[in-house]
Amino acid sequence: MVASWPEPIVSVQTLSQAGISTVPNRYVKPVHQRPVYNSDQSGLDMEVPVLDMRDVWRKPEGLRRVRNACEEWGFFQVVNHGVDHALMESVRGAWREFFDLPVEVKRKYANSPDTYEGYGSRVGVVKDAKLDWSDYFFLNYLPSSIRNPSKWPSQPPKIRELIEEYGEEVRKLCERLVETLSESLGLEPNHLMKAFGGEDKVGANLRANFYPKCPQPHLTLGLSSHSDPGGITIVLPDEEVAGLQVRRGDCWVTIKSVPNALIVNIGDQVQILSNGIYKSVEHQVVVNSGMDRVSLALFYNPRSDIPIGPVKALLTKDRPALYKPIRFDEYRLLIRQKGPSGKNQVDSLLAST
Ligand code: OGA
Ligand code: NI
Repeated sequence: MVASWPEPIVSVQTLSQAGISTVPNRYVKPVHQRPVYNSDQSGLDMEVPVLDMRDVWRKPEGLRRVRNACEEWGFFQVVNHGVDHALMESVRGAWREFFDLPVEVKRKYANSPDTYEGYGSRVGVVKDAKLDWSDYFFLNYLPSSIRNPSKWPSQPPKIRELIEEYGEEVRKLCERLVETLSESLGLEPNHLMKAFGGEDKVGANLRANFYPKCPQPHLTLGLSSHSDPGGITIVLPDEEVAGLQVRRGDCWVTIKSVPNALIVNIGDQVQILSNGIYKSVEHQVVVNSGMDRVSLALFYNPRSDIPIGPVKALLTKDRPALYKPIRFDEYRLLIRQKGPSGKNQVDSLLAST
């Protein structure tokens, strides 16, 4: 495991606050990776589906819509998800306050590439890599044996309690969602959770993202195109500032957040477990020159020390296993070394035919 970064870390927020008028070369993406805004020429539906948890929970018609969203988009927004709206706002506000602290205070939590836990500004240890226009704070939440609140921010005063409270509510939502995904795949309600290794053994991490305003947003990205490595991701978006884009055919669709909704997306492990029926779809974040953006992603992952491969009940003669099993800890290590790179990682597991 690599213990340190290949270059000194620069907080992007500090760069942005210094009022620079051009983006340093380290953040300038090659032309083909630069942002494209809703180039809608495909004739495809261009709105990420919005699902109401009350309509999909144990309801055949709703489960069909879940299946359709996961096959077609790999993304949906969910309302009536059970997570308290005031809590969503408080936790997002607390993170905003954290990022507004002086950089010397935040640096006390500086992370390193061996665990990624803490305050950071890059993913991947490839020297001279192009970097993303964002800072983040990454922490472990589940299993509770690896939870270490002393590594979490201690300011603003309520932030640790808010993280715990929010984490708990989202954990419950994730359990319901995994059950819903299982049923929508035609499996027994608990089948997918068993394949995850059981609810007391799953992993979860939280990543608070800060995307500072940017003098030349068309040259860079807040977060480069990637698919999420884990099971499912729940994103609490910034309601005032859009930025998350989802790949749709050859286009990028910017998500318009519905008030109080959470964004759910399928990660690589669910693509693997579902044998490719559900798609872990590429997404990226664009920035803008007017406003900072804060989002909070909770990654809900299978147990990390068991092989994850396609669920046997989903295999048929016509659709044999597409992926070779791999443990999630091994899989994640590959991503943590390389940084975000589209869907290369999951594609590398395709069993050669
Ligand atoms: C992520 C991610 C989206 C966002 O953290 O993996 O895709 O809106 N975040 O910040
Ligand atoms: Ni993501």
